[in-house]
Amino acid sequence: MKKSFLYLGKQPIANSFLSTLSKKSIKSEYFYNLIVSFDTKNYLVSVKNPVNPKIQYTDKYAHRASESKTMREAFKNIAYKLQKRFHPKKIMEIGSNDGVFLKNFPKHKVIAVEPCKNLAKITKNKFKTYPNFWNKKLSKLILKRNSKIDLIFSANTISHIPNIKETFEAIFHIISDNGVLVIEDPSLSSIININSYDQFYDEHVYVFSALAIRNIAEKYNFTLFDVEKTDTHGGSLRYFICKKSSNHKKTNRLKKIINEEKHMGLAHIKTYKKFADRVKKSKIKLINLLKKLKKDNKKIISYGATYKSTTVFNYCKIGLDYFHYVTDTTKNKQGKFTPGTHIPIVPPEKGFNDSVDYAFLGAWNFKKEIMNKEKKYLKRGGKFITHVPKVEILS
Ligand code: TMP
Repeated sequence: MKKSFLYLGKQPIANSFLSTLSKKSIKSEYFYNLIVSFDTKNYLVSVKNPVNPKIQYTDKYAHRASESKTMREAFKNIAYKLQKRFHPKKIMEIGSNDGVFLKNFPKHKVIAVEPCKNLAKITKNKFKTYPNFWNKKLSKLILKRNSKIDLIFSANTISHIPNIKETFEAIFHIISDNGVLVIEDPSLSSIININSYDQFYDEHVYVFSALAIRNIAEKYNFTLFDVEKTDTHGGSLRYFICKKSSNHKKTNRLKKIINEEKHMGLAHIKTYKKFADRVKKSKIKLINLLKKLKKDNKKIISYGATYKSTTVFNYCKIGLDYFHYVTDTTKNKQGKFTPGTHIPIVPPEKGFNDSVDYAFLGAWNFKKEIMNKEKKYLKRGGKFITHVPKVEILS
């Protein structure tokens, strides 16, 4: 039974930045009610009414995984580790974005699946790329032209696909008998622990835990045999899954993480209700802080036009009344406007200057990288605001 526990209000598509503020583009902006629920049977946390993927993953999709040094290094590192551990002959990535992971393997070994046409275009000349949504039809097509796949990797994508049944059945069809499916997504336990409610948005149809993935894997004839914690996106889990009939042994760290999740109450609705109370408090605190800074005539901007800041801005109803603009390094976000709140996005070279007093860390998951990069700003008295793990000023 699905029980709703978190209401984040009316939200736009988080990565759908507006090119203009014409009447037509404002009128056609898509909104939905962001409600998050917990399934008491399989422990899966999901967005109650998922948005149609065809509205989300278009040829205008803005997110580029290669944009941050943290992510480039993380993908290089995991590619190396997977190669060393499993020695795959054929590797496929579902949701290959701009190729940041696959580029670490020899070209002839890899297959990219990426439904956003603008992203698929980036990789199509580098390696075999299918510009399609992942489903059974595509897995049959790929298998017609290729041998079975030994390693299927998917970071921050499986949680985006509403049809979990078809996703796993299509993977089962194409994966080799002893092949490994590696899924990486933000972890539910980290989100609850650091109160990062902004990990809930239209694309995160599911926020997985090891408990939920174990149940899903079992249901579709797979076994979860290992889990690894990673730092990316404020704390993610990397799940290692194989066919039930395969011979990968369950690891001790899997048992440990499952026990940790049970211990923190991820199998009980009351944990989620308490989390929702903390989210409400965080909203009030953030609004009060911004109000105070505005009263003191401080210039506040936001740093990083992220999917996370879309959730925060629209949930807290904060926009141009507090932020002068948002800075972002991604070329195709610059010159556009934030979803729902319509704050202009400018390049950091233009906007991150001496006039700024406070910068809200929209990209809080890159805090280390940003604090390192912006030492000069901090030295001259510039400050950051964050809401994760709690609302506070960083100086
Ligand atoms: P995402 O969290 O939605 O993937 O977006 C992260 C955004 O943060 C991306 O558009 C790039 C931006 N960013 C900066 O503007 N400056 C930085 O130093 C870093 C690390 C990211």
